[in-house]
Amino acid sequence: MLNPPDRTARKIKKILITGANGYLAQFVIDRLCGAYELTLTDIVELDRTVSGTTFIKADVTNAAEIEAVCADQDAVVHLVALVRGRSDKPASLFADVMVKGTWNVAEACVKQGVKKLVNISSISACPPAPSARLPYEVDDDFQFGPGDLYYALAKYLGERIGAAYHQAHGLDVIHVRPGVIDGDGQNPGPAVPEIVTDPWFVYVDPRDVAQCVARAIETETVRYGAYNAVAGRADSRFSWKQAVDDLGYSPVHNWPDIPGDDT
Ligand SMILES: NC(=O)c1ccc[n+]([C@@H]2O[C@H](COP(=O)([O-])OP(=O)(O)OC[C@H]3O[C@@H](n4cnc5c(N)ncnc54)[C@H](O)[C@@H]3O)[C@@H](O)[C@H]2O)c1
Repeated sequence: MLNPPDRTARKIKKILITGANGYLAQFVIDRLCGAYELTLTDIVELDRTVSGTTFIKADVTNAAEIEAVCADQDAVVHLVALVRGRSDKPASLFADVMVKGTWNVAEACVKQGVKKLVNISSISACPPAPSARLPYEVDDDFQFGPGDLYYALAKYLGERIGAAYHQAHGLDVIHVRPGVIDGDGQNPGPAVPEIVTDPWFVYVDPRDVAQCVARAIETETVRYGAYNAVAGRADSRFSWKQAVDDLGYSPVHNWPDIPGDDT
């Protein structure tokens, strides 16, 4: 019988990016391009060409298609989600694209001997409970609310799938939880609230999320974890210090002109 592939010993050279035509993906691709051999995949053709990369069209809800694109990869950065115009979409679509899709990706990683899955989650995966201290750490109490529940729950379940595949199969899994990503075309960007009571800043620059993804790829010591990727400000609502300590994340686009940051 053949020995299973020794994932731990392998250096990451080839990376598959899912959701490669999306907004955040372009920053992740820019950051990783050159240092790694990138294969890009999405359910639609790419709007832009990225030299030195390969594109393969695939639907994450189709297990066979996603297994085929994971062949020969060392790591996967999984970005697919229902982000745009999601408020009027049914629960079943979130279950298909985000839960089944992430499950398919994790299963494909194991079947193809992929070493590491970097799962792009969200600060929405675990909304801080009213009792939670702020800034919110990933393991603090959380409580779902009715707003955006399908998306938040799908992100939470995506993380649980990653945890299960890490435990069961030794797949390295790092969940990167971006804050609200500036410039994505659906949020207004940061502005100080009229009355500030709690740490309120929830934004992050996409270049810093891409940096956090690169650090998650590079680490050889963290085999599993979830990390907030938010601006490095004193008034950030979600703590970014764990990503600094464990991954070497060092956010550099921190809106210094917006008052409230005394880091
Ligand atoms: N935009 C934000 O503020 C924000 C905040 C936190 C986390 N995130 C997460 O970051 C990731 C990227 O977000 P974004 O803003 O770039 O989203 P986006 O909508 O720009 O990109 C999503 C991509 O997924 C692709 N896709 C959708 N269904 C697919 C399927 N079935 N198979 C294959 N590809 C499919 C789309 O074509 C699109 O290119 C997502 O996981 C999102 O949840 C985003």
